[in-house]
Amino acid sequence: MEENGRGQWGSRIGFIAAAAGSAIGLGNIWRFPFITGRYGGGFFVLIYILLLIFVGYPVMNSELLLGRKTQLAAVGTFKKLAPGTPWVIVGFMGVLAGFVILSYYSVVAGWALAYMFKSGVYMAAGADHGSIFVSSITSTGAGIFWHSVFMLLCIAVVAGGVEKGIEKWSLILMPVLLLLLIILIIRSVTLPGAGAGLSFYLTPNFANFSTEGFLAAVGQVFFTLSLGMGCMITYGSYLKKDEDIPLVAKYVVTSDTSIAILAGLVIFPAVFAFGLEPGAGPGLTFITLPAVFSKMGAAGHIFGFIFFLLLMIAALTSAISLLEVVTAYSIDEMKFDRKKATIIAGILIWALGLFTTLGYSKLSHITLIKGMDILDSFDFFANNMLLPLGGLLTALFIGWYWGTDKALEAVNEGAKTKLGTSYSFLIKYVVPIAIFVVFLNSVGIIG
Ligand code: TRP
Repeated sequence: MEENGRGQWGSRIGFIAAAAGSAIGLGNIWRFPFITGRYGGGFFVLIYILLLIFVGYPVMNSELLLGRKTQLAAVGTFKKLAPGTPWVIVGFMGVLAGFVILSYYSVVAGWALAYMFKSGVYMAAGADHGSIFVSSITSTGAGIFWHSVFMLLCIAVVAGGVEKGIEKWSLILMPVLLLLLIILIIRSVTLPGAGAGLSFYLTPNFANFSTEGFLAAVGQVFFTLSLGMGCMITYGSYLKKDEDIPLVAKYVVTSDTSIAILAGLVIFPAVFAFGLEPGAGPGLTFITLPAVFSKMGAAGHIFGFIFFLLLMIAALTSAISLLEVVTAYSIDEMKFDRKKATIIAGILIWALGLFTTLGYSKLSHITLIKGMDILDSFDFFANNMLLPLGGLLTALFIGWYWGTDKALEAVNEGAKTKLGTSYSFLIKYVVPIAIFVVFLNSVGIIG
């Protein structure tokens, strides 16, 4: 099983479950519906799907091929392919992004845990769901407690290793997630008045185009596919040489997209059926949905529990991939053993996450970027700066430094349907231009 002691995926389906598990997360179930609602529904969904195909899919292939080629995580990959050059910084940026993203990801996942265990309270009829949400996230003790529980779960899985930890748990959790989602969709689309939500969500209305919506869609493609920070390089490094990368990348992108689309099918029909606001923003999941569940009587508590369980499972399989980026770096570069690497990385990230959760209570006076609280600042710094920059540099690395001919050779090894010149064209021109526009815009917001 292991050629070099680093670990390897046990089977193709196991790898797909793990990579899809990484991709499918809060990004699909929490972030995708609220930005779709904010940017006008159907038309945003259309742009998003086009970007997934023309930007997301080629970058996914690129990261996987780099990792498999070098059999090393992000930092080691750039060191090996471009020794003595500053390209290694791209790898370090990825490790930094993993640190920052997981520290607040775990806090949001902790909220989902709290909602799950207290669905009776949070989904109570006639309650003010907005103020329940605020009081739940501003409670210092509860914030620290649920964040800690979630980080412990991540550490336990990642310490178990590639095949026996990450792969095994993804194979169990992903089917459960799909099943829970289907139960919720059936409930949602059969509510009286669900049709209005379906047409808002699925009919593209060209009047809703906005540049901002376009930028948000590019950012969402990176976040949802776990790209731009070496996560898929790391997962690619555990792939066997004869694995068909273009094919597995297709499965991962398709399953991630399907889950996001399905999550919208839970949320929009319900939001419209109960006359709530689809553009409610980040609160859509934690304020609007509990309001929906509270109007379903006792069954609402059960649906609420199922929904937040689903959100927690999706978050867990993503969070372990973020932790794995930091862990794999210390295994490859600092020669730590896996347990030690996981525990040290986990504790450091947990400590950084304390700031995020305290950002809603004891540290609520602190704003880091442009008046944003700690969580929003971390999210902005990672998603609008580090990820697009990482994605841009990865595309430039392959397209203009290392060379698309070498990349094609590496990606096509073991592939039945091989990638060709369209891949090279997308990586050299389309991907860099699309990301550059987003990046300039993010810098413009700060400067
Ligand atoms: N893709 C995950 C989501 O949609 C989040 C995530 C996991 C991620 N690993 C990542 C995002 C690496 C960027 C990079 O929730």
